Amino acid sequence: MMTETSSLQEILEWYICAGVDEICAEEPFFNMPKQASAMPSVSAEPVKKNTPADTPMVRHATTELAQATQTAFQNAKDICSKVTTLDELRQAVETFEGCALKMTAAHTVFGDGNPQARVVFVGEAPGADEDRIGTPFVGRSGHLLNKMLAAIGLDRTSCYICNILPWRPPGNRTPLDSEIAVCLPFLKKQIDLINPDFIFTLGGSSANALLNTAESISRMRGRWLEYTKSDGSSAKLLASFHPAYLLRTPGQKSKSWADFLRLSKELNKKS
Ligand code: URA
Repeated sequence: MMTETSSLQEILEWYICAGVDEICAEEPFFNMPKQASAMPSVSAEPVKKNTPADTPMVRHATTELAQATQTAFQNAKDICSKVTTLDELRQAVETFEGCALKMTAAHTVFGDGNPQARVVFVGEAPGADEDRIGTPFVGRSGHLLNKMLAAIGLDRTSCYICNILPWRPPGNRTPLDSEIAVCLPFLKKQIDLINPDFIFTLGGSSANALLNTAESISRMRGRWLEYTKSDGSSAKLLASFHPAYLLRTPGQKSKSWADFLRLSKELNKKS
């Protein structure tokens, strides 16, 4: 039987595994995953120091993580194959237990905007403001995005905005590949349900995830690419800079502006 100390240690290890590296509330609370099989499990054995002799244990943990990711990914895909509306999908994401990020997030941040939009904007992951409010792009990046949308005659009622991940990575750390892999079916299902003509990715990671490529944003941006929806039809995809990057690097705003004009031109083409 586990002692109280070892189970506490297990919870802390689980949090570290989930990427928690900051204190976000005055009172401590612990929230263990309900569906342990879908999460990287942590050995009940006492923690040992990492020595070369531990390598098999590390390898075992890595294999477990890969298997947990695969299981969670399959669960996400199975769920997506059954839902037929955005509301059902939202509920399914809110009750999904296969991504550890949910345990540390305040809200599930599902997509927002017009479900009949012709264009879907895809960011990376909620930040602190989005996590607090539960809506994508409502912080500083969101304000800049709103201005850029307005400049080409769009607003949140005429487009749809979502992220690869519906949960904030603790401390805004970069999402893990495993987190992106598990949540990607939900993003793709949102796109299938909205069925847009155009996808505008905000930053390289959403273009990489949707196009399954590792190409850098600087090589991808500025030209139309093709995204294939699950029914085989395609949407034109434009990869552009993330607003957070533009806030840090205002000199790149002109390139982003050119991308927004490219989108506007396509949206206004007579069919
Ligand atoms: N950055 C993102 O990628 N998405 C948000 O919703 C907010 C900031």
